Amino acid sequence: MLKTLLILCGSLLLCEGGLVKIPLIKFVEEKNLSHELQKLQIKFNITDIATMPPKYHYLDFSFYGKITIGTPPQDFLVLFDTGSHLLWVPLKTYTLDNEDFGRHHQYDPEKSQTYQLNGQPFFMIYESGYLSGHLVEDTVSLAGKEIQNVTFGVATYRPDATFRYAPYDGVMGMSFFNSSLHYAQPIFYDLMKQHKLEENVFSFYYLRNGSTRLGGELTLGGINPDHFEGQLHYVNISRKYHWQFEVESAHVNKIQVCKKCQVIADTGCNGIGLPRDDYHRVNRAIGATIDPETYQFVVDCNKINQLPEITFKIGDGIFTLSGQDYIKRLNNRCVSGFHNIGSAKFWILGDLFIGKYYTVFDFDKSRVGFAKTKQNIQITI
Ligand SMILES: *[C@@H]1O[C@H](CO)[C@@H](O)[C@H](O)[C@H]1NC(C)=O
Ligand SMILES: *[C@@H]1O[C@H](CO)[C@@H](O)[C@H](O)[C@H]1NC(C)=O
Ligand SMILES: *[C@@H]1O[C@H](CO)[C@@H](O)[C@H](O)[C@H]1NC(C)=O
Ligand SMILES: *[C@@H]1O[C@H](CO)[C@@H](O)[C@H](O)[C@H]1NC(C)=O
Ligand SMILES: *[C@@H]1O[C@H](CO)[C@@H](O)[C@H](O)[C@H]1NC(C)=O
Ligand SMILES: *[C@@H]1O[C@H](CO)[C@@H](O)[C@H](O)[C@H]1NC(C)=O
Repeated sequence: MLKTLLILCGSLLLCEGGLVKIPLIKFVEEKNLSHELQKLQIKFNITDIATMPPKYHYLDFSFYGKITIGTPPQDFLVLFDTGSHLLWVPLKTYTLDNEDFGRHHQYDPEKSQTYQLNGQPFFMIYESGYLSGHLVEDTVSLAGKEIQNVTFGVATYRPDATFRYAPYDGVMGMSFFNSSLHYAQPIFYDLMKQHKLEENVFSFYYLRNGSTRLGGELTLGGINPDHFEGQLHYVNISRKYHWQFEVESAHVNKIQVCKKCQVIADTGCNGIGLPRDDYHRVNRAIGATIDPETYQFVVDCNKINQLPEITFKIGDGIFTLSGQDYIKRLNNRCVSGFHNIGSAKFWILGDLFIGKYYTVFDFDKSRVGFAKTKQNIQITI
């Protein structure tokens, strides 16, 4: 009986105040490194990211999950992104020639009793153009938790290739809110205001290893101890805009590659982004060399197991990534996951790091926490 109740809590969320668990789907897609880096450039206002050769593509994961919008609910798949603020989904339009959003789910305000027009235009620059539309308000549900009057964007125009083939329909921003820069407060603020959570905390579990489509869990309202082992190590946020904090130091072998670096935890980014000098320093320290064809740092695929670890000291915790973690295979090439983000003054830790370390985003205490992810855990929906 108890077990049944627990399962009900986990799946249907009949328990007010409990954890809200959103299963994440993992999808391997072909990514254009140029695009990915330009996305970071725009997201983090970096002026000078180097352009990559056009053919530079790689396979990597996207993690996303289901939300519903409107009354009755309409389903959407969104990327949960701690590096941006706005929730947006495509808008249904009835013009025959508008195929911008192709086969993606499209929000239909006429079919929602709780829809309200806000009308303010929104505009987001993307690598190959811009995404634009206007703001609306409606009820949004996250794993059954209803949040009323959420202001979000409905996109009527999107840049060429970026979202056409994306496995998800839209993006749900989860950064901090800055009213002088942002269109609307991130949805987590509405969730907090409507007092639906025990703690104003959310946590990401990304399961990079393993072949299942089920790729992790986003937990709202706290942490899910099933998904990590050992202790959580916390560090305070240094700038309440992105989820930015200070890393005490990072080493490869005895070489110090960072001392009191500013770092941003970004669930919507794949690799690890490094300012130009650090990019060269880290890649040389791991023994990577520049491939003359792609201008990327590569290593010998047979030697991944012998590559040195990179060790981060964060708060009172030590976190390591091994060659298995930070090298990406591309056909028969093995490419470094440490990317060049030009003149940025911070590092970006994407899913390479978050996949190895369960990551807690704590609004109440303005801090982030990390602990070793448990691998191969079954997630139940
Ligand atoms: C982006 O960077 C430019 C130049 O570094 C700066 O003038 C501008 O205020 C920044 N924008 C934001 C939104 O931080
Ligand atoms: C990858 O992105 C770059 C920069 O936007 C673009 O020039 C190139 O055509 C893209 N490659 C493909 C195959 O889409
Ligand atoms: C949402 O908006 C409706 C209509 O303006 C209002 O009646 C309702 O109280 C609002 N709900 C919340 C939680 O603010
Ligand atoms: C919000 O953004 C403005 C403009 O960049 C900045 O001056 C201000 O400090 C920011 N506020 C917070 C709380 O970060
Ligand atoms: C982190 O912030 C809390 C207050 O929010 C403060 O008490 C604590 O000393 C800070 N920790 C460090 C290591 O700065
Ligand atoms: C994935 O598996 C490999 C080999 O078993 C291991 O070395 C690596 O640490 C694992 N990655 C994560 C993120 O746990």
